[in-house]
Amino acid sequence: MQVLFLRRERVYDPVLRVIHAWNALLVVLLLITSQLASWLEFSWEVAALWRLHLWCGYLLLIGLVARLVWGFVGPAHAQFEELWRPGVWLEALRKRQIYGPPQAMGHHPLASLAYVAFYAMTSIMAGTGLVLAAIEQGVGPLYTALGYAFELKSWFRAPHDWLEEFLLAFVLLHLAALILHERLHHIPIAQAMVSGYQYRKEEP
Ligand code: HEM
Ligand code: HEM
Repeated sequence: MQVLFLRRERVYDPVLRVIHAWNALLVVLLLITSQLASWLEFSWEVAALWRLHLWCGYLLLIGLVARLVWGFVGPAHAQFEELWRPGVWLEALRKRQIYGPPQAMGHHPLASLAYVAFYAMTSIMAGTGLVLAAIEQGVGPLYTALGYAFELKSWFRAPHDWLEEFLLAFVLLHLAALILHERLHHIPIAQAMVSGYQYRKEEP
């Protein structure tokens, strides 16, 4: 029988964990409301669903701003320096090695490329969403500038619609990667954003 030695460290602070849970829940709600509203098409519930979608969008915006602020003032493992690792990404590309076991504590340096892409995509979703709120629903902070400007609709609706597929892909890949890492490397990974503790293998 092989005995495994694991080192445990407290890595993710409570604020980062709350922001992660907040943003994750809202992205799932945004995906569900937009899918349901598109599926129901012309029934009366659709307007209510789009309104709910917009409110979830506002709440996600708060989560994104909170993450931005925490990336500058939070502890070391929440800082953007830990997410922005172009050197490691290029090296992995050169060696064609994109799925290695986690080594140091903190964010997996390759997964962080997906996290940066996620934040870029959700920021565009939030920007285009605010414009759509003014155009489609006649509400929101951009209403005075863009209220019911239907001629601009397609410019903002198309990217908002395309990026939905990428966000859905991110969520599925993120969850699949967490499960796969646990299976392949026999370390509890997914729980880190709940408990704050990370585990790494150690030589006996
Ligand atoms: C981040 C995840 C999000 C997803 C997956 C998502 C998805 C979608 C989709 C698929 C549509 C329909 C586009 C079409 O019909 O072609 C839509 C519309 C819309 N979204 Fe989002 N969205 C997200 C975020 C946001 C945010 C952050 C806001 C606002 C701040 C927002 C506000 C809106 C509005 C106002 C509409 C138009 C609704 C209407 O027709 O009345 N969305 N969204
Ligand atoms: C379903 C929607 C989800 C979304 C949109 C999402 C998004 C993210 C993002 C953006 C990060 C980077 C965090 C940062 O800013 O520092 C992250 C990291 C992480 N998430 Fe999620 N997440 C989701 C669900 C989950 C679930 C259900 C779990 C498991 C409980 C989980 C576990 C983790 C862990 C452990 C990390 C850090 C991984 C590492 O060390 O590289 N996530 N997630």
